[in-house]
Amino acid sequence: MTIHVLLNQKGGVGKSTVAVNLAAVTADVLNQDDDPDATSPVAAVSVDPQGSAIWWADRLDNLPFHVVQAHDDLNGLRQLGQLPGIRHVYVDTPGWIDLNAADDTSDPLGRGPAADALRTVLEVADHVIVPMETEPLSFDPTARTIRKILEPRGIPYTVVINNWDPRDGKLDLEETKDFVRANKWPLAKTVIRHYKLHARASADGLVVTEYPANRVALQAREDFYRLALELRIDGGR
Ligand SMILES: Nc1ncnc2c1ncn2[C@@H]1O[C@H](COP(=O)(O)OP(=O)(O)OP(=O)(O)O)[C@@H](O)[C@H]1O
Ligand SMILES: [Mg+2]
Repeated sequence: MTIHVLLNQKGGVGKSTVAVNLAAVTADVLNQDDDPDATSPVAAVSVDPQGSAIWWADRLDNLPFHVVQAHDDLNGLRQLGQLPGIRHVYVDTPGWIDLNAADDTSDPLGRGPAADALRTVLEVADHVIVPMETEPLSFDPTARTIRKILEPRGIPYTVVINNWDPRDGKLDLEETKDFVRANKWPLAKTVIRHYKLHARASADGLVVTEYPANRVALQAREDFYRLALELRIDGGR
């Protein structure tokens, strides 16, 4: 069983999109579709008290993986690694983490129920995926997330560039990669490209495995399969 956590202090960088769609492609590979009694070995968990409602609310019962809303269930989060029959858990975290900027000696996650939920999730996390965008506004929050939350805890992580639009050219992409490399952070080779389809799908509650089989949709979907393969999603302990 592997617990993958999506984390970035910056809002809107694709934490929910990546969590849900990695869950979808993993379920696509691991679900026993020919056995009507089999349940999915994949779960998406949200510890975001707000965001996830929009995404998943209407589809809780018919997504190809389990969905758990657990922002106020610390005991449940502590036992995330023991969910029966589950092999992969993708945890979506809140849109905005208020890092305690001034004081480097105390826990920068601060106090309160959201901070407690996040701390608990990070205690059980096997791997953290840090999505970021190819824009300078995304650089500082990403650096803070890694330096203040992940490195002090020794949690393995991978930075994933999301929402890059090939029509914008490669300059921003290369600058972003250079920034990540200059910091010596592990960077996924897979870049999740910007497709309008993803934004539309999130509004409709669709996951990439449910996209129509046209060329653009297949390209949009491919990025998530590639990322899952690159992260050796089925190589967990
Ligand atoms: N690769 C992409 N292509 C197109 N749209 C995208 C892509 N990734 C994310 N989006 C869109 O950007 C918006 C923000 O994405 P998402 O909600 O996943 O980010 P988040 O980090 O979970 O945000 P929050 O911090 O608010 O929880 C959504 O409307 C989503 O559909
Ligand atoms: Mg979100």
